Amino acid sequence: MAIRNIVLDTDEVLRKKCRPVEVIDAKVLTLISDMIDTVKKADGVGLAAPQVGVLKRIFVINDPAKKKVYEIINPEIVATSGTQQTAEGCLSVPGKYGVTNRPMKVTIRGIDRNGKKVEYTEEGLIAKAFCHETDHLDGILYTDKVIRMLSPEELEN
Ligand code: NI
Repeated sequence: MAIRNIVLDTDEVLRKKCRPVEVIDAKVLTLISDMIDTVKKADGVGLAAPQVGVLKRIFVINDPAKKKVYEIINPEIVATSGTQQTAEGCLSVPGKYGVTNRPMKVTIRGIDRNGKKVEYTEEGLIAKAFCHETDHLDGILYTDKVIRMLSPEELEN
């Protein structure tokens, strides 16, 4: 188990486009395991590889409600429907939340750590996380898309 350092939004690395993973080697496997440890330790929903300084197209999502962990290599959003305007945050933008416009339902494809094709269709929070984490791989932060940031008073409620 290893916890990696999460970079902040002032770090240039979060603005770079990540490269697809060509070979799932020991380094990639360790990275994925560390990312899962790191997102759980940080009490976050999702973490993308550039947030730990690695420019590879990989993200993990931890759904505490379903006790389910998604790990997706080379993700591609293949279908979306509906919309949701809900609060969104990011481990690289600590203590802040903003309202974004995201699809309500998202289907995503990629491969898992064994190189097997995976496809997930989820709604609500996890659909939002699929979009948020995929954006990270293209150097996009939710603060680029936010409709409005929540005030400290709103955060207390
Ligand atoms: Ni984020």
